[in-house]
Amino acid sequence: MSQASKGNDHIVWQNTRIARADRERLNGHPGLCIWLTGLSGAGKSTLAVRLEERLHSQGVRTYLLDGDNVRHGLSADLGFSEDDRREQIRRVAEVAKLFVDAGVVVIAALISPFEADRKHARSLFDEGAFIEVFVDCPVEVCAERDPKGLYEKAKQGLIPQFTGISSPYERPKTPDVTVNTAAQSVEDGVLAVLDAVDSRTAAWAKRWRVAR
Ligand code: ADX
Repeated sequence: MSQASKGNDHIVWQNTRIARADRERLNGHPGLCIWLTGLSGAGKSTLAVRLEERLHSQGVRTYLLDGDNVRHGLSADLGFSEDDRREQIRRVAEVAKLFVDAGVVVIAALISPFEADRKHARSLFDEGAFIEVFVDCPVEVCAERDPKGLYEKAKQGLIPQFTGISSPYERPKTPDVTVNTAAQSVEDGVLAVLDAVDSRTAAWAKRWRVAR
């Protein structure tokens, strides 16, 4: 359906009286999207949970958007075809954008296997308000860990289009940070992401900086 036939040409943007800057002032820090991409089992959720814990303990307002969790509700109608993944990334990126507008630090943890979709996600944010974190781990190690038993099933042909087995994962070419979970501890990964956050939020660094 075209945008016009949906009637979108009759939708007018409504201005609000409280802006993002007002909300950020109240929160005491800027809004930010930290986007974690990587294979299933690479450690995105583990890193995201620890990162959120650390930020929260420092008084930072956070929210975690995990791919699996989002697929229980907002994206319950989506599967794992290329089109559905594109739509999943689009929805989560739009939701993340709302959180950033609310002055929140949102952590999105999705496989997001396609470069074009991640590029689209980044394009929704101001320069510096989006940090792409590549949670890197060899597929063999992910399959060995297999925390949900999905690699085993995928190898048996029970899960079609499984990322890394029967569906591609395009490695990010220019991520802001790479965390190698096969070689680094979760704590080191958290610190690497926090370093990138610090360097992007210089004006707020004093308030923001997380005790090491
Ligand atoms: S994405 O590709 O659209 O970004 P997302 O992060 O939302 O994926 O969901 C991935 C999670 O769905 C995996 O961690 C895994 O638990 C589950 N899953 C189920 N089927 C598949 C599949 N075919 N490929 C990848 N993950 C799958």
